[in-house]
Amino acid sequence: MTTPFMDLSEHVAVVTGGAGGIGRALCTALARAGVRAIGVVDRDEQTEDFCATLNEEVGRTVAHAYRGDVAERSFREHVFGDLEEQFGCVSVCVPAAAILRDGYGVKIRSDSDTASQSPSIELYDDDSFRKTIEINLVAPVYWALRTVASVALARVRRGCGVWTPDEHIEGAVALIGSISAAGNSGQIAYSSAKAGLEGARSTLAKEGIRYGVRCVLIHPGFTDTTMARSLGDNRLRNDILPNTQLQRLIQPVEIADAVCFALRNPAVSGVLNVDAGWHARPR
Ligand SMILES: NC(=O)c1ccc[n+]([C@@H]2O[C@H](COP(=O)([O-])OP(=O)(O)OC[C@H]3O[C@@H](n4cnc5c(N)ncnc54)[C@H](O)[C@@H]3O)[C@@H](O)[C@H]2O)c1
Repeated sequence: MTTPFMDLSEHVAVVTGGAGGIGRALCTALARAGVRAIGVVDRDEQTEDFCATLNEEVGRTVAHAYRGDVAERSFREHVFGDLEEQFGCVSVCVPAAAILRDGYGVKIRSDSDTASQSPSIELYDDDSFRKTIEINLVAPVYWALRTVASVALARVRRGCGVWTPDEHIEGAVALIGSISAAGNSGQIAYSSAKAGLEGARSTLAKEGIRYGVRCVLIHPGFTDTTMARSLGDNRLRNDILPNTQLQRLIQPVEIADAVCFALRNPAVSGVLNVDAGWHARPR
Protein backbone atom coordinates (compact mmCIF):
# COMPACT_ATOMS: atom_id res chain seq x y z
CA MET A 1 0.00 0.00 0.00
CA THR A 2 1.30 3.44 -0.87
CA THR A 3 1.84 5.87 2.00
CA PRO A 4 -1.36 7.66 2.94
CA PHE A 5 0.49 10.87 3.87
CA MET A 6 0.12 13.94 1.71
CA ASP A 7 3.18 14.35 -0.49
CA LEU A 8 3.81 18.07 -0.08
CA SER A 9 6.04 18.19 -3.15
CA GLU A 10 2.87 17.92 -5.25
CA HIS A 11 1.31 20.94 -3.56
CA VAL A 12 1.26 24.70 -3.87
CA ALA A 13 0.68 26.47 -0.56
CA VAL A 14 -0.42 29.88 0.54
CA VAL A 15 0.56 31.14 4.01
CA THR A 16 -0.78 34.47 5.24
CA GLY A 17 1.16 36.23 7.95
CA GLY A 18 4.04 34.39 6.28
CA ALA A 19 6.65 36.94 7.33
CA GLY A 20 5.55 36.87 11.00
CA GLY A 21 6.89 34.63 13.76
CA ILE A 22 4.81 31.50 13.26
CA GLY A 23 4.28 32.09 9.52
CA ARG A 24 8.03 32.38 8.93
CA ALA A 25 8.74 29.14 10.79
CA LEU A 26 5.97 27.43 8.86
CA CYS A 27 7.15 28.64 5.43
CA THR A 28 10.63 27.43 6.32
CA ALA A 29 9.31 24.03 7.40
CA LEU A 30 7.16 23.70 4.25
CA ALA A 31 10.06 24.68 1.99
CA ARG A 32 12.37 22.17 3.68
CA ALA A 33 9.62 19.52 3.39
CA GLY A 34 9.72 20.03 -0.38
CA VAL A 35 6.47 21.88 -1.07
CA ARG A 36 6.38 22.99 -4.75
CA ALA A 37 5.72 26.68 -4.18
CA ILE A 38 4.58 28.92 -1.34
CA GLY A 39 2.74 32.21 -1.67
CA VAL A 40 4.14 34.10 1.31
CA VAL A 41 1.49 36.71 2.04
CA ASP A 42 2.10 39.55 4.47
CA ARG A 43 1.90 43.30 4.70
CA ASP A 44 5.33 43.45 6.36
CA GLU A 45 8.06 45.08 4.28
CA GLN A 46 10.48 42.29 5.22
CA THR A 47 8.41 39.79 3.22
CA GLU A 48 10.57 39.94 0.07
CA ASP A 49 13.83 39.69 2.02
CA PHE A 50 12.54 36.73 3.99
CA CYS A 51 11.58 34.92 0.77
CA ALA A 52 14.97 35.62 -0.80
CA THR A 53 16.79 34.26 2.27
CA LEU A 54 14.60 31.16 2.39
CA ASN A 55 15.06 30.47 -1.32
CA GLU A 56 18.80 30.75 -0.92
CA GLU A 57 18.75 28.39 2.05
CA VAL A 58 16.79 25.66 0.26
CA GLY A 59 18.53 26.22 -3.08
CA ARG A 60 15.41 26.76 -5.19
CA THR A 61 12.81 29.45 -5.78
CA VAL A 62 10.03 28.12 -3.60
CA ALA A 63 8.88 31.21 -1.67
CA HIS A 64 7.05 33.93 -3.61
CA ALA A 65 6.37 37.18 -1.80
CA TYR A 66 2.99 38.90 -2.00
CA ARG A 67 2.76 42.10 0.00
CA GLY A 68 -0.71 43.41 0.86
CA ASP A 69 -3.67 43.36 3.20
CA VAL A 70 -5.31 39.96 3.71
CA ALA A 71 -8.70 41.63 4.13
CA GLU A 72 -8.68 43.00 0.57
CA ARG A 73 -10.58 40.87 -1.89
CA SER A 74 -8.72 42.15 -4.96
CA PHE A 75 -5.34 41.42 -3.34
CA ARG A 76 -6.51 37.88 -2.46
CA GLU A 77 -7.67 37.30 -6.03
CA HIS A 78 -4.36 38.62 -7.37
CA VAL A 79 -2.40 36.18 -5.17
CA PHE A 80 -4.48 33.15 -6.15
CA GLY A 81 -4.63 34.17 -9.82
CA ASP A 82 -0.87 34.60 -9.98
CA LEU A 83 -0.06 31.34 -8.17
CA GLU A 84 -2.59 29.39 -10.25
CA GLU A 85 -1.19 30.80 -13.49
CA GLN A 86 2.40 29.94 -12.54
CA PHE A 87 1.98 26.63 -10.71
CA GLY A 88 -1.60 25.36 -11.08
CA CYS A 89 -4.07 24.80 -8.31
CA VAL A 90 -3.38 26.09 -4.78
CA SER A 91 -4.17 23.17 -2.50
CA VAL A 92 -2.66 24.01 0.90
CA CYS A 93 -3.63 27.05 2.92
CA VAL A 94 -2.55 28.29 6.32
CA PRO A 95 -4.11 31.69 6.93
CA ALA A 96 -2.06 32.79 9.95
CA ALA A 97 -2.15 36.61 9.67
CA ALA A 98 -3.80 38.15 12.71
CA ILE A 99 -3.81 41.23 14.88
CA LEU A 100 -4.14 41.86 18.61
CA ARG A 101 -6.37 44.66 19.87
CA ASP A 102 -6.49 43.83 23.57
CA GLY A 103 -8.65 45.63 26.08
CA TYR A 104 -11.14 44.84 28.80
CA GLY A 105 -14.79 44.56 27.75
CA VAL A 106 -15.88 46.88 30.55
CA LYS A 107 -13.86 49.51 32.37
CA ILE A 108 -15.15 51.68 35.18
CA ARG A 109 -13.48 55.04 35.51
CA SER A 110 -13.68 56.61 38.93
CA ASP A 111 -11.05 59.26 38.52
CA SER A 112 -13.03 61.77 40.53
CA ASP A 113 -11.38 63.85 43.18
CA THR A 114 -14.72 64.34 44.80
CA ALA A 115 -16.68 61.42 46.22
CA SER A 116 -19.91 62.89 44.79
CA GLN A 117 -18.79 62.55 41.13
CA SER A 118 -20.32 59.40 39.66
CA PRO A 119 -18.02 56.87 37.96
CA SER A 120 -18.17 56.51 34.18
CA ILE A 121 -18.15 53.36 32.08
CA GLU A 122 -16.08 52.57 29.04
CA LEU A 123 -16.88 49.60 26.80
CA TYR A 124 -14.41 47.93 24.47
CA ASP A 125 -14.20 49.99 21.28
CA ASP A 126 -16.54 48.47 18.69
CA ASP A 127 -14.43 49.59 15.71
CA SER A 128 -11.52 47.59 17.15
CA PHE A 129 -13.91 44.65 17.59
CA ARG A 130 -14.98 44.81 13.92
CA LYS A 131 -11.40 45.18 12.69
CA THR A 132 -10.27 42.18 14.73
CA ILE A 133 -13.13 40.07 13.38
CA GLU A 134 -12.33 41.20 9.83
CA ILE A 135 -8.64 40.27 10.01
CA ASN A 136 -8.74 37.28 12.40
CA LEU A 137 -11.97 35.57 11.34
CA VAL A 138 -13.42 36.77 8.02
CA ALA A 139 -10.09 36.98 6.18
CA PRO A 140 -8.77 33.51 7.12
CA VAL A 141 -12.09 31.93 6.21
CA TYR A 142 -12.02 33.60 2.77
CA TRP A 143 -8.40 32.56 2.08
CA ALA A 144 -9.47 29.03 3.04
CA LEU A 145 -12.60 29.17 0.84
CA ARG A 146 -10.56 30.40 -2.10
CA THR A 147 -8.23 27.42 -1.65
CA VAL A 148 -11.18 25.01 -1.68
CA ALA A 149 -12.37 26.80 -4.84
CA SER A 150 -8.95 26.41 -6.46
CA VAL A 151 -9.01 22.63 -5.88
CA ALA A 152 -12.67 22.35 -6.91
CA LEU A 153 -12.00 24.19 -10.17
CA ALA A 154 -8.98 22.02 -10.97
CA ARG A 155 -11.09 18.92 -10.36
CA VAL A 156 -13.88 20.11 -12.65
CA ARG A 157 -11.30 20.83 -15.37
CA ARG A 158 -10.03 17.24 -15.01
CA GLY A 159 -13.61 15.96 -15.30
CA CYS A 160 -13.78 14.81 -11.65
CA GLY A 161 -17.06 14.72 -9.74
CA VAL A 162 -17.60 14.61 -6.02
CA TRP A 163 -14.45 13.33 -4.24
CA THR A 164 -14.52 9.68 -3.22
CA PRO A 165 -12.43 7.95 -0.52
CA ASP A 166 -10.42 5.92 -3.05
CA GLU A 167 -8.91 9.17 -4.32
CA HIS A 168 -5.91 10.85 -2.70
CA ILE A 169 -6.68 13.78 -0.45
CA GLU A 170 -6.26 16.80 -2.72
CA GLY A 171 -5.80 19.64 -0.31
CA ALA A 172 -5.62 20.77 3.28
CA VAL A 173 -6.37 23.92 5.22
CA ALA A 174 -4.96 24.58 8.69
CA LEU A 175 -6.64 27.51 10.38
CA ILE A 176 -4.65 29.12 13.19
CA GLY A 177 -6.75 29.76 16.27
CA SER A 178 -5.51 30.40 19.78
CA ILE A 179 -5.98 29.08 23.27
CA SER A 180 -7.81 32.39 23.77
CA ALA A 181 -10.73 30.81 21.88
CA ALA A 182 -11.67 29.33 25.25
CA GLY A 183 -11.79 32.82 26.74
CA ASN A 184 -9.08 35.14 27.97
CA SER A 185 -9.54 38.21 30.07
CA GLY A 186 -8.76 41.37 28.09
CA GLN A 187 -9.29 39.71 24.71
CA ILE A 188 -13.01 40.00 24.02
CA ALA A 189 -12.55 40.62 20.27
CA TYR A 190 -9.54 38.34 19.69
CA SER A 191 -11.10 35.40 21.55
CA SER A 192 -14.44 35.88 19.75
CA ALA A 193 -12.66 35.76 16.39
CA LYS A 194 -10.59 32.73 17.31
CA ALA A 195 -13.62 30.87 18.72
CA GLY A 196 -15.47 31.72 15.50
CA LEU A 197 -12.85 29.76 13.59
CA GLU A 198 -14.13 26.59 15.30
CA GLY A 199 -17.53 26.91 13.60
CA ALA A 200 -15.85 27.87 10.34
CA ARG A 201 -13.57 24.82 10.52
CA SER A 202 -16.49 22.42 11.03
CA THR A 203 -18.33 23.80 8.02
CA LEU A 204 -15.22 24.02 5.83
CA ALA A 205 -14.44 20.40 6.71
CA LYS A 206 -17.94 19.28 5.70
CA GLU A 207 -18.04 21.30 2.47
CA GLY A 208 -14.36 20.93 1.55
CA ILE A 209 -14.30 17.14 1.62
CA ARG A 210 -16.61 17.12 -1.44
CA TYR A 211 -13.45 18.16 -3.28
CA GLY A 212 -10.99 16.22 -1.10
CA VAL A 213 -9.93 19.23 0.97
CA ARG A 214 -9.55 18.65 4.72
CA CYS A 215 -9.72 21.40 7.28
CA VAL A 216 -8.12 21.44 10.71
CA LEU A 217 -7.74 24.10 13.37
CA ILE A 218 -4.60 24.50 15.46
CA HIS A 219 -4.84 26.41 18.72
CA PRO A 220 -1.33 27.62 19.65
CA GLY A 221 -0.47 28.67 23.15
CA PHE A 222 1.82 31.60 23.92
CA THR A 223 4.56 31.47 21.32
CA ASP A 224 7.76 33.46 21.17
CA THR A 225 6.86 35.99 18.46
CA THR A 226 6.33 39.74 18.24
CA MET A 227 2.67 39.18 19.04
CA ALA A 228 3.27 37.43 22.37
CA ARG A 229 6.22 39.71 23.26
CA SER A 230 3.92 42.72 22.82
CA LEU A 231 2.18 41.64 26.04
CA GLY A 232 5.29 42.72 27.95
CA ASP A 233 7.84 40.79 29.99
CA ASN A 234 6.01 41.30 33.29
CA ARG A 235 2.73 39.89 32.05
CA LEU A 236 4.46 36.96 30.41
CA ARG A 237 6.53 36.17 33.51
CA ASN A 238 3.81 36.66 36.11
CA ASP A 239 0.49 35.82 34.43
CA ILE A 240 1.31 33.49 31.59
CA LEU A 241 4.33 31.25 32.02
CA PRO A 242 3.29 30.00 35.50
CA ASN A 243 0.03 28.79 33.89
CA THR A 244 1.82 26.49 31.46
CA GLN A 245 3.30 23.07 32.15
CA LEU A 246 6.46 23.79 30.14
CA GLN A 247 6.95 27.12 31.98
CA ARG A 248 8.28 28.72 28.81
CA LEU A 249 7.07 30.25 25.59
CA ILE A 250 6.54 27.84 22.73
CA GLN A 251 9.05 28.16 19.90
CA PRO A 252 7.51 29.05 16.50
CA VAL A 253 9.19 25.96 15.06
CA GLU A 254 7.11 23.80 17.45
CA ILE A 255 3.88 25.29 16.09
CA ALA A 256 5.16 24.90 12.51
CA ASP A 257 5.93 21.24 13.16
CA ALA A 258 2.38 20.65 14.46
CA VAL A 259 0.89 22.40 11.42
CA CYS A 260 2.98 20.30 9.02
CA PHE A 261 1.90 17.14 10.86
CA ALA A 262 -1.76 18.17 10.60
CA LEU A 263 -1.41 19.02 6.91
CA ARG A 264 0.37 15.79 5.94
CA ASN A 265 -1.59 13.25 7.96
CA PRO A 266 -4.98 12.70 6.29
CA ALA A 267 -6.46 11.09 9.41
CA VAL A 268 -6.10 14.32 11.40
CA SER A 269 -9.30 16.31 11.59
CA GLY A 270 -10.82 18.70 14.06
CA VAL A 271 -8.95 20.79 16.56
CA LEU A 272 -5.41 20.39 17.89
CA ASN A 273 -4.09 22.30 20.90
CA VAL A 274 -0.37 23.08 20.82
CA ASP A 275 -0.32 25.01 24.04
CA ALA A 276 2.60 23.91 26.28
CA GLY A 277 0.02 22.69 28.80
CA TRP A 278 -1.81 25.98 29.22
CA HIS A 279 -4.32 26.11 32.07
CA ALA A 280 -5.77 29.59 32.36
CA ARG A 281 -6.68 30.88 35.80
CA PRO A 282 -9.36 33.53 36.18
CA ARG A 283 -7.95 36.97 36.96
N1 LIG B 1 2.29 34.25 19.30
C1 LIG B 1 1.37 33.70 20.08
O1 LIG B 1 1.54 33.61 21.30
C2 LIG B 1 0.11 33.15 19.46
C3 LIG B 1 -0.73 32.41 20.29
C4 LIG B 1 -1.89 31.89 19.76
C5 LIG B 1 -2.20 32.10 18.44
N2 LIG B 1 -1.38 32.84 17.66
C6 LIG B 1 -1.76 33.03 16.27
O2 LIG B 1 -0.71 32.63 15.40
C7 LIG B 1 -0.79 33.37 14.20
C8 LIG B 1 0.56 33.99 13.89
O3 LIG B 1 0.88 34.90 14.91
P1 LIG B 1 2.37 35.30 15.29
O4 LIG B 1 2.55 35.05 16.72
O5 LIG B 1 3.30 34.72 14.31
O6 LIG B 1 2.25 36.88 15.14
P2 LIG B 1 3.17 37.92 14.38
O7 LIG B 1 2.65 39.24 14.78
O8 LIG B 1 4.59 37.58 14.57
O9 LIG B 1 2.79 37.63 12.85
C9 LIG B 1 1.56 37.99 12.30
C10 LIG B 1 1.84 38.44 10.88
O10 LIG B 1 0.59 38.77 10.27
C11 LIG B 1 0.79 39.91 9.48
N3 LIG B 1 -0.48 40.62 9.32
C12 LIG B 1 -1.27 41.11 10.29
N4 LIG B 1 -2.34 41.71 9.76
C13 LIG B 1 -2.20 41.61 8.40
C14 LIG B 1 -2.98 42.06 7.31
N5 LIG B 1 -4.12 42.74 7.49
N6 LIG B 1 -2.57 41.76 6.06
C15 LIG B 1 -1.39 41.10 5.85
N7 LIG B 1 -0.62 40.66 6.86
C16 LIG B 1 -1.02 40.90 8.13
C17 LIG B 1 1.81 40.76 10.24
O11 LIG B 1 2.47 41.68 9.39
C18 LIG B 1 2.72 39.70 10.81
O12 LIG B 1 3.85 39.46 9.97
C19 LIG B 1 -1.90 34.40 14.40
O13 LIG B 1 -3.09 33.90 13.83
C20 LIG B 1 -2.04 34.47 15.90
O14 LIG B 1 -3.32 34.89 16.30
C21 LIG B 1 -0.21 33.38 18.13
